[in-house]
Amino acid sequence: MEVQAPLLILLVTLLLGLLYNYASSPRKGSAARNLPPSLPLFSLLTAIAGISWPSAPSLADINHLLHRLQAFRGPITSLCLPFCTAVFISDVDLANQVLVNNGSAVSDRIRPSTPIHRHTPENFGVAISPYGEAWRSLRRNLVSGFVTPSSTKHFAGARRQVKEKLLERFTSEAAESAGIVNFRNNLSRVFYSLLVSMCFGRDLDDRETVELDRTMKSMISESAVLLFFSFLPRLIQKVFSKFLFSKNGGKHSAGILLHLLKNGRDHLHATCYADTLLEFELPADNKGGGKRKLREDEILDLCAEFIGASGHNTPIALEWIMAELVNHPRVQGRLAEELFLLGRIDGDQEMTSSPYLRAVVMEGIRLHPPSPSFFRLVGKEFEVGGYAVPKGALVFFNAASMGVDERLWEDPLKFFPERFLAAGKNAKLMAFGGGRRMCAGSESAVFILSYFVAHLVKEFEWRPTAAQGGEQVDMSAKMDFFMPMKTPLRACIVRRDNKNTNKTA
Ligand code: HEM
Ligand SMILES: *[C@@H]1O[C@H](CO)[C@@H](O)[C@H](O)[C@H]1NC(C)=O
Ligand SMILES: *[C@@H]1O[C@H](CO)[C@@H](O)[C@H](O)[C@H]1NC(C)=O
Repeated sequence: MEVQAPLLILLVTLLLGLLYNYASSPRKGSAARNLPPSLPLFSLLTAIAGISWPSAPSLADINHLLHRLQAFRGPITSLCLPFCTAVFISDVDLANQVLVNNGSAVSDRIRPSTPIHRHTPENFGVAISPYGEAWRSLRRNLVSGFVTPSSTKHFAGARRQVKEKLLERFTSEAAESAGIVNFRNNLSRVFYSLLVSMCFGRDLDDRETVELDRTMKSMISESAVLLFFSFLPRLIQKVFSKFLFSKNGGKHSAGILLHLLKNGRDHLHATCYADTLLEFELPADNKGGGKRKLREDEILDLCAEFIGASGHNTPIALEWIMAELVNHPRVQGRLAEELFLLGRIDGDQEMTSSPYLRAVVMEGIRLHPPSPSFFRLVGKEFEVGGYAVPKGALVFFNAASMGVDERLWEDPLKFFPERFLAAGKNAKLMAFGGGRRMCAGSESAVFILSYFVAHLVKEFEWRPTAAQGGEQVDMSAKMDFFMPMKTPLRACIVRRDNKNTNKTA
């Protein structure tokens, strides 16, 4: 991405603003308001010093900064930025208190002008709608049609087809290279073809798959940069996004999505998301505002969101889970045995009757949340832990550190799916957020991940490559807006003799 110089300017501006803020304290009103303790200037500077200068700041460096800051902060801290107050929460009890008890006060979101939502001039989507009737109804449409257990069975055919493609790909790659596969290669394409079936009710040809994959990847990396600057006023964000991404802003995705919308529906699949949107009646947020149909550009925003929300997180999670299984032959062996006993694995029934399969998926997501933090806009001032959080503040929740909090999880860095077999542990997982605006697709994500993990493990045994000397896979993370593996997973696969799954145990 050619954004280095502008990012540098932006970063410098931000730092000057911050220094000004520290220098001119006490700020007006802050004493009266009793904000959470301020992030100390010293730790901010230490974190900045820790970045590998003098390499130009890239997105990854800026996100390193954010993550280093997380290491320095207490359970709740605040930072007064030039245009807004940011509050950081990394304690799970405080997070639950805020997300549940003060749910209505923190259920708003900013409406960033990212490429995903830029088919409309005003930006439209479930994830970015203000808290209100329109959001509630859009979210209900998504959840009831596409992410409930009963709806997942409508897409069984598409899922099976995509799974076959993936298994074939691994088989032929392994045959050509002494059993070794590069797990991540083309993985996102596989997921995009599944999501397009769900969204537009049709299959993708090869050319469309490549184009969609390229388009979504660039939209998501632009969005990640812009979301990082979401504390800036909307107008400044718009100017920056024009300036930073003038060459390929939003428009290009309209091409492929519109093409899919207009040339869709082979009717092999059940009702698709786009069909429900064509029928959808959007209620107004103000009382007595009536209902109206969605415009075409709004439908494109919603479809881009549907594909973007799951198409990026889910393959990241799958790669992490498979890497953990390579490193933990005992867990992989136990899972293979359970799957063997289940027999056919196609629908919800088999999937829900294997608690161990679900535990493996949840444990992978706990240790490696694909979205390490999420944030909300405060719609109404509230108090937590004796501190006031003002209206208009952004509250950031640090899901990554909550996932490895040793007060909640015994031996938190250990990959140990058995911990999820005990009741009540799911509730403590923050990787999908919480409260009213929790991830709308969490159930479907866990289902899809379980489905692919099950088939990959049932078909092949996954081992470290000889180049790793039979040793462990490198499990370091790339600190980005999303948190993928730093080194893409390579593994050696051996087709399982399904009559004798014990050999890995
Ligand atoms: C492993 C996969 C996934 C992860 C880790 C993930 C994570 C998240 C997180 C952390 C949030 C913010 C929650 C909050 O503010 O409390 C979110 C929101 C959301 N996610 Fe997911 N997600 C995943 C898959 C999906 C899938 C498959 C869909 C399906 C369409 C989806 C749709 C959404 C939507 C629509 C929102 C916004 C909800 C709202 O504002 O009401 N996600 N996701
Ligand atoms: C926040 O939660 C506390 C504790 O439940 C409650 O007393 C307070 O009224 C809530 N405030 C808002 C604005 O929701
Ligand atoms: C990935 O996709 C490209 C284009 O479709 C293809 O040429 C390549 O062989 C694929 N790679 C793997 C490992 O399947």
